[in-house]
Amino acid sequence: MAKDDTIKLASIVAVAENGVIGRDNDMAWRIPSEFAYFRDMTIGKPVIMGRKSFDALGKPLRDRPNIIVTRDTTWRREGVLVCHSLEDAIASARRIAAGRGATTVFIAGGAEIYRQAMPLIDILYLTEIHLAPEGDVIFPAFDRGQFDETARTFHKAHPGDEADYTITVLQRKAARQKAGATL
Ligand SMILES: NC(=O)c1ccc[n+]([C@@H]2O[C@H](COP(=O)([O-])OP(=O)(O)OC[C@H]3O[C@@H](n4cnc5c(N)ncnc54)[C@H](OP(=O)(O)O)[C@@H]3O)[C@@H](O)[C@H]2O)c1
Repeated sequence: MAKDDTIKLASIVAVAENGVIGRDNDMAWRIPSEFAYFRDMTIGKPVIMGRKSFDALGKPLRDRPNIIVTRDTTWRREGVLVCHSLEDAIASARRIAAGRGATTVFIAGGAEIYRQAMPLIDILYLTEIHLAPEGDVIFPAFDRGQFDETARTFHKAHPGDEADYTITVLQRKAARQKAGATL
């Protein structure tokens, strides 16, 4: 069983060159090979999402605990754990991760949840999508100086992908820089 304090909190996001992450409560591109990367990274690990991102998917992500954050106390869906604050969602996700030996808990969007989680995360898995599509949801500005880039890999579009992309991994420089972090 993974000890709770060894469990990392990570955000995972794909961001276009103009900051867009979504359009009309959906993705603004179709890049199956990048989605496969998301799947490989998150499989078996608790994934936290805002209610709007869950609605965009329409069903739980398979083979991983889905924790959905909403302020609506009447909201229920089969196959997901519902939490009414991000703090509760993260605490629940850590407990679930500890129980199944997972060492990472993922924040999987959308913009509202990424923004609130930004001061708390240890790692940001940031895929830069080499497109500048129209969109109505923008990834929140953040201070890259608080992170070290520990990996960067360029991926040429596979057949069926709309664009090339670059996967980067940003690790927070020091735990004490988590200004305001209480979790
Ligand atoms: N490119 C990517 O990697 C990526 C990843 C994920 C999502 N997306 C895109 O992002 C878009 C959705 O993002 P979004 O910012 O509009 O919405 P969101 O963050 O997915 O969800 C927002 C909702 O979460 C709930 N919520 C937020 N903060 C909360 C809190 N502190 N306590 C309790 N509930 C809270 C509220 O639900 P209620 O209204 O029910 O109270 C709020 O309306 C979609 O277009 C989606 O496709 C992109």
